[in-house]
Amino acid sequence: MCGIVGYVGLEQAAPVLLQGLGKLEYRGYDSAGIAVYQNGIFTIKTKGRLTDLKEKIKKEDITLSGKIGIGHTRWATHGAPSDVNSHPHSSENGRISVVHNGIIENYMELKEMLLKKGRKFVSETDTEIIAQLFDDCYNGDMVETMIEVIGKIRGAYALGVLCTEHPDQIVAVRKDSPLLVGLGEKENYIASDIPALLEYTRDYYLLEDNEIVLLKQNSVTLFDLNKKEIKKEVFHVTWDVSAAEKDGYDYFMMKEIVEQPEGLRKTIFPRLKEQAIQLDHISLTQQDVKNINKIHIVACGSAWHASIVGKYVIEKVSRIPVEVDLASEFRYRNPILQKNDLCIIVSQSGETADTLAALREAKKHGVRVLSIVNVVGSSIARESDDVLYTWAGPEIAVATTKGYSTQLSVMYLLALYFGAAKEHIGKEEMAKYIQDLKKVPEDVESLLSLEERIKTLAKEYAQSKDVFVIGRGIDYAAAMEGSLKLKEISYIHSEAYAAGELKHGTISLIEDGTLVVAIATQEALFEKLVSNIKEVKARGARVIAMAVEGNDDIEKVADEVFYIPKTNELFSASSTVVPMQLLAYYIAVERGCDVDKPRNLAKSVTVE
Ligand code: F6R
Repeated sequence: MCGIVGYVGLEQAAPVLLQGLGKLEYRGYDSAGIAVYQNGIFTIKTKGRLTDLKEKIKKEDITLSGKIGIGHTRWATHGAPSDVNSHPHSSENGRISVVHNGIIENYMELKEMLLKKGRKFVSETDTEIIAQLFDDCYNGDMVETMIEVIGKIRGAYALGVLCTEHPDQIVAVRKDSPLLVGLGEKENYIASDIPALLEYTRDYYLLEDNEIVLLKQNSVTLFDLNKKEIKKEVFHVTWDVSAAEKDGYDYFMMKEIVEQPEGLRKTIFPRLKEQAIQLDHISLTQQDVKNINKIHIVACGSAWHASIVGKYVIEKVSRIPVEVDLASEFRYRNPILQKNDLCIIVSQSGETADTLAALREAKKHGVRVLSIVNVVGSSIARESDDVLYTWAGPEIAVATTKGYSTQLSVMYLLALYFGAAKEHIGKEEMAKYIQDLKKVPEDVESLLSLEERIKTLAKEYAQSKDVFVIGRGIDYAAAMEGSLKLKEISYIHSEAYAAGELKHGTISLIEDGTLVVAIATQEALFEKLVSNIKEVKARGARVIAMAVEGNDDIEKVADEVFYIPKTNELFSASSTVVPMQLLAYYIAVERGCDVDKPRNLAKSVTVE
């Protein structure tokens, strides 16, 4: 949902801004723009991708000499993608320039107020209101003006502001949208995410809500809403720059699919003891777990799919009742939350607006919140009582892969931790589970070898109109993720169905040649799934099935079978997702889609 970069230093700002925006395009890619100070604020922006902006700069033969500037890559909310709606936005007199990530909820009333004062607007965006408002409130001091502005706006925002009267300063703030400060040698930066700045610095300030930063070439000062200076610890990034590079892969998505075993090992292994799960740094004691009445897992999209798998596994192993909610529903449905409930929040980015709001809703009810997050220091991580990080490393492709699979692995760890605390699993059983859990990364790795076969198969199915993915139990939860992967990156309509439910309506959509992917890894449900395959086959479907090695009977009914290694069936979703990720990827490539940047999407959904 939009990426922001800002630079002030001794070098030309534009190349740094463009380079940083390139790393943030995953956050939005329908328009891009930069503004630099060079005898006044000079702005250049365009509808389209960053490459279009670079083209425009080249074509217009513009010299961008300014050593301070702000940049933006957009995912449209207010106003369609167009040159005029692109950021940065300026006040009418050109004194103020603003980049914004988020949504200003009261922008209509602020616009009315500013219109009455005679101000004219050129765009349909809520951001232009901020530029005009900042100018309207301007009292000669950037920090004081920012404090006044944020007292008047409502909503989510990360803002970077330039002013012609302070050509050596950027003032920035965040609330419910990410923003961090990069600390350099004689130069400083702001950005929505670390990869934008990793080439320049490894030292950061992670801003809290409503902390204001005044950035100059040789100083960074942080203020609270009373203009009192704040001191902050520097967050030092240890990952390799290559973690945010494609490393020779055509797309980040493929690189991230291949990185899954490594992410799983990093997430699982340090938490396994011989006969126990050790969740370091979490305050939830065995007694707390014993007292849990009910678990509410709340998330969006793929994280919600991982949560549904989590429900099956946690309930099975610990017998604690689990409810799974979509964050966008949970926050408005007045959920019944009781003192001894636990809320688990799942989010790769740690910034998803609805998920963050759900977290706050749970806390408002006095419920303890444990989050499963990938981005260290993100809002959800910071606001939770306990955090279990997924150690997937930076995920750049818009469609999640390693984020999802590492979330699954934390669900398994939690299930076993809860099961042991509730005394539902004994030592021996635990040792067996741990042995099986250790095998998950290697099983995932072995499934990557299906790549060539799936690539060939993708050619055959690339022109499908509809694809159905069916399964029962955990396989149904896994089907949801497989179906989402396919539709979001290939634009083929796809639905996941509980296999037993298909005949209650949806089966009427099956016709000659319709592709059905059937997942059949749960022993007790295997025969039932085989019957469901027969039902769709009888109506002309082509079936790709997934089953556990040894269950060859499935070959009698399916057109194509992928076998997953024999393992504890509670962990099967980790395996079955891999062929589906590869199938979605190669179908999308075959159809000429931009795999890493599917249309209409953005990675970090910081609006409702
Ligand atoms: C799909 C996908 C999304 C995210 C969802 C939640 O491939 O990536 O469905 O899973 O937007 O995002 P996080 O996990 O960052 O809260």
